[in-house]
Amino acid sequence: MAEPKENLQMEKIVSLCKRRGFVFQSSEIYGGLNGFWDYGPLGAELKRNVKELWWHAMTRQREDIAGLEATIIMSPKIWEASGHVATFADLMSTCKSCKKLIRADQVWDILIEQPWVQSLADVVDVGTQTFDGDALLRWAAGKGKRLAPELALVRNPTVTLSWLSERSKTSKENPVSAKEFYQYIATEQLTATGLITPCPHCGGELTAPRPFNLMFETWAGPLQSDENKVYLRPETAQAIFAQFKNVLETSRQKVPFGIAQVGKAFRNEITPRNFTFRSREFEQMELEFFIKPDEVIEAIHGSVFTPTPNAPLATPQPNWGWQAWHQYWVEERVRFYEGIGLSRETLGFHHQTPEELAHYARACTDILFKFPFSKKDEQGHVKGDELEGIAARSDFDLSQHQRFSGKPMGVFDDELRAAWAKLPKEKADDLWKRYYDHRKNYLTKSAKPDETPEQIAQQATEDANGLARGQYIPHVIEPSAGVDRLILALIANAYTETVKTDDKGKSETIYTMKFHPRVAPIKVGVLPLLKNKPELVNKALEVRELLRPWLNIYYDEAGSIGKRYARQDEAGTPFCVTIDFDTLGEKPELLDTVTIRYRDDGRQERLKISELLAFLLSKTR
Ligand code: GAP
Repeated sequence: MAEPKENLQMEKIVSLCKRRGFVFQSSEIYGGLNGFWDYGPLGAELKRNVKELWWHAMTRQREDIAGLEATIIMSPKIWEASGHVATFADLMSTCKSCKKLIRADQVWDILIEQPWVQSLADVVDVGTQTFDGDALLRWAAGKGKRLAPELALVRNPTVTLSWLSERSKTSKENPVSAKEFYQYIATEQLTATGLITPCPHCGGELTAPRPFNLMFETWAGPLQSDENKVYLRPETAQAIFAQFKNVLETSRQKVPFGIAQVGKAFRNEITPRNFTFRSREFEQMELEFFIKPDEVIEAIHGSVFTPTPNAPLATPQPNWGWQAWHQYWVEERVRFYEGIGLSRETLGFHHQTPEELAHYARACTDILFKFPFSKKDEQGHVKGDELEGIAARSDFDLSQHQRFSGKPMGVFDDELRAAWAKLPKEKADDLWKRYYDHRKNYLTKSAKPDETPEQIAQQATEDANGLARGQYIPHVIEPSAGVDRLILALIANAYTETVKTDDKGKSETIYTMKFHPRVAPIKVGVLPLLKNKPELVNKALEVRELLRPWLNIYYDEAGSIGKRYARQDEAGTPFCVTIDFDTLGEKPELLDTVTIRYRDDGRQERLKISELLAFLLSKTR
């Protein structure tokens, strides 16, 4: 069976990433380390640009967001409060034969990529459930033995085949599905425990899935004891919650406001895959945007604004509740992606269903990107894979830290206190009751084993009574993006191949990385027309010095001008500046002008050196 086209595309992208110095395998000289990646010279610049742009858009461009840079290792109590110690786990199966570990929800995705499964397609049409027993036996004795030695069909072909034949007799009314087919050929003994799921790697038997906590553990201090156990943070968000009060007090912000952070996160992923998409060490760009609970908005403004679904919300308003803020942040984030070259057509959305949502969350919208490995749905549409999640997380996180640390995480709001005093009794009772129910619900779901319903009711009463004094725990909207996934999306989006054929009929594939100028690792290539003409070289060096303090430039004098343009196209450099004899005044009217060449269409224009910097800054910022 031919390799799926999208994998070929990924292979080409991975190869270009290495060849041009975007991404290297970590520890490559020692055979690499699964799930860890290094960024080479171009990748490091690309990544830096993306993080800078996010930081700029989130903090410096706005009045209502402050920044934070917290440590990677924090008190382990943070991870108890956040729920990560108890529940940050994926389900994992182990192969009883080759001992490989596989994330349970990825078994089938990994299986269909395996050479043994692909080679089976020559023998059996799994889609229409037609198979020839003799051909399957021949496969088992040949390719099967080599590629999937632990498969039941390989180890005990006739017995295994008998189960499958038995089952397929009922095929008209209840056809064998593809999944079932692979399970049958992995099952030697049909027992009460049912069919076996094959190990994608060797065909052996996978154990039933069991939870595996994804946090990396280490010890702070010389003693490797339980008291010294700490974790590498699996997300940057929790530091923001833990420092909420400090930032609030020092930044003189008032709710609604946000705290932004960019930094490393670590997850011991069971099966890192799809290049950098699922890594064990990665970076996040997270915003926690704190808002007033809807009951508080209603007390102050009389009602909460109800947004029209999908209608853009550009300017925040005081009467926005969580729904409007959530919708606003989804749109803001899409605008950010558009601003760095990911058009809406390349993106998708997944609105988490009530079953998918965490118990405390009210909504979560994932922004997806259509990666070359993204699967098609039943209608043949590519939906995409997650770039960023935007969650409405209620007041869960701050409440948890208040309960676990014993430190108050609420805020005081003068406007609320004044408004509450003027509320008609009926309205105040209604808001009190709604807030009470919300708090009681949270306290019940998060209760420690020794907490009684009476204690919970008393705490919820105190919380609801706080409204009259102007006190509440802020709710939060969390846009949480992965830097590495975004870099991969930008690389996949930029990757362009064209085949050029010369006069002699010789064809050559040209690679161009069509990055948006804002993210492009190198903004300008500075090229003297000829290397052996000191006047040209000196002028080019002057231009280099003019631009260098402001823009990442690349000076190149080696090889033909065509070759140099091609090198810059492959690096994704949007502009090249060529210094030629006209620059030196061969045509007097062109003295001190240069040629600007545009990467995407090869167009060239003449520009005065005195106008060059302003022109380039306007295009790349
Ligand atoms: N604080 C919320 C949070 O961490 P998440 O959906 O688990 O939510 C947010 O992660 C983003 O971090 C994801 O949308 C993705 O872009 C990135 N991310 C998560 N796990 C990753 C991994 N193993 N490798 C690369 N990026 C990852």
